[in-house]
Parts: sequence; C-alpha cells; structure tokens
Amino acid sequence: MNSSRIIGLTAAVMTTACGAAAAQDYPTKQISMMMPFAAGGPGDAIARIVAQGMSEALKQQVFVENVGGAGGTIGTARVAAANPDGYSILMMHIGQATNVALYPNIKYDAIKDFEPIGLVGEVPMVIVSKKAFAADTLKGLVDKIRADKDSVTYAHAGIGSASHLCGLLFFSAVGAEVRQVPYRGTGPAMNDLLGGQVDFLCDQTVNTVPNAVAGNIKAFAVTTLTRLTTLPAVPTADEAGLKGFDLSIWYANYAPKGTPKPILDKLATAHQATLASATVKDKLNGIGVVVAGPERATPAVLAAYLKAEIEKWGPVIRKAGVTGQ
Ligand code: MLT
Repeated sequence: MNSSRIIGLTAAVMTTACGAAAAQDYPTKQISMMMPFAAGGPGDAIARIVAQGMSEALKQQVFVENVGGAGGTIGTARVAAANPDGYSILMMHIGQATNVALYPNIKYDAIKDFEPIGLVGEVPMVIVSKKAFAADTLKGLVDKIRADKDSVTYAHAGIGSASHLCGLLFFSAVGAEVRQVPYRGTGPAMNDLLGGQVDFLCDQTVNTVPNAVAGNIKAFAVTTLTRLTTLPAVPTADEAGLKGFDLSIWYANYAPKGTPKPILDKLATAHQATLASATVKDKLNGIGVVVAGPERATPAVLAAYLKAEIEKWGPVIRKAGVTGQ
C-alpha cells in the first residue's frame, strides 16, 4: 500500500476517532437555541423555559437567540446552514410545516435540512382586540369587518407566523380580509394592541391570557374546540359562530442535518428529560402550553408529525392563495 493511501486511511481513522471523541465529550461549550421570533412573544417565553430545562439536563448553558422576520424563516434558515456540531439547535412552531407552502422558494428544506429532536407541546390561541375596539363579541367583530373592512387593522408576526395563520383561517371563515400589520413577533404586536395602535390580533395564550385577565384587552374567542380554564367565560370560535374553527400551535426542537447520531441522541434524551421535569411542566402549563407526553416527545414521532402537518396545511394555504415570497 503506497504512502499516500496510508496517509489517507490514517486521516480517515483519526477523523472518525475525533468525531467519536467529540460526541463522547459533548457538550463542552454553550449551545444556541434559535427562536426565530422577537423577544417578548410566546415563542420566546416557551423557548426560555425549555432552554433552562435543557441547560440542566446537558450541564451546559443553552441560550436563546432571537432572530425574527419573515414568519420565522430567517432564523430557521440560519440553523439549516449552521455547523451540524450540536451547538446550534432550533425551536420552531407550526410554521416549520406551513412555510413549505407559504414560501415555495425558501432557502431550506423543512425536512431534509433538519434532524428532528422532539415535539414540545401545543398552545391554544385567543382572538383579542384593543380595549377601545367598537365590538364586544366575536359576532360584533365579524359584523364590523364585513360592514367596513377598511376601517379595521390586524396584527401578526409575518407571513408564516402562527398569528398570520390564524388570521388566514379567520378571514377565510369570515369571507372578508382587513389591512394587516406585520411585526417581528407578537411581543411587539401586543405592545401596539395595548397602546391602541392596531385593532385586533390572534395570538397564543402565553401573550393573550395575562392581558385579558388584567382587563387590558378584550378576548372574543378561543381557537380550540374546548374553552380555556384560565378564561372560562370566553367562548370557543366554534361556539361563537365560526363552526369547526380549530387551531392550536405546536412547537418542536430540531438540529441541523448531519449532526452526529451520538450527539442527536444526547439532545433527544435531554429534551425528553426536560419535558418530564415537574418544574418545566408547571412553568409551561402556567403559560397555557399542553406539554407533549414522553410517548410524543421522540425524534421519530416528530418526523412523522411534521410530514403529516406539511401535507395537511399545503392545500389549505394554496387554496387561500397566500405566499410569503
Ligand atoms: C407567531 O407565530 O405569531 C409567533 O409565535 C409570535 C411570537 O412568538 O412572537
């Protein structure tokens, strides 16, 4: 065997050995969890709770990095392109599925460019308005939109966000659309709703319930088929006239494609240990998250669920004729 072949084989053996050593020692430094919406919104709140739990499970800091814009696709693209060494992970919600149809020319493949780590849980949404809005019920909101749609404004976190998806379904059910005001997250959107600069919003319970309970905004309807124990007087959209309206926002964690299997296994184990922690479950439940049970929090379940969600939402979004680019 000639010397160059020996050198090549030696290099390959050393690379494999280094990779195995890196995986064995992983993690040796802090880990970035990308949350592709602005700080202060529901995604950010959920990411911080899960990141804290994973920091304890991995014995290394998992810090949340907020990169908002374009319905979460800017931050998501960064993780797709990141070094697959286990030190960049992504927390993204239903947008991982809906953005496939909303952004046909997107720079990443929602399935091929990621490794599934696991589902986090699901969050109901509430349709809310500014305190001074000229309606007190969902029917009043719908009537006002149908009568004078140009006088009403709707806030969301960009095409591809959960708040945009809720609006898309809502306007399709109402048969009329109003002027939409995009933000880098519903944290900033809620600030403008509280200030009266925008009329209404459909957002996750994390953001809406505390402000509705405090009387700072008006809550018209819950987007799931069951009422919230935290807002028992607020009807479901189905009860309030939008028959069959049913939407909750699921979240999951991913790593870039090519992350070594031993590192993915450590991330999946830490993810599941985090969701099994009573402290984390109490914190997530406290902001309205229905936490995924251990049987649903595995990489295999997420891979199948993401594929099914892409297939479910594609026709709905194409029928609505909405695209993000
Ligand atoms: C959205 O999709 O509306 C986002 O989750 C809002 C946010 O987290 O800022």
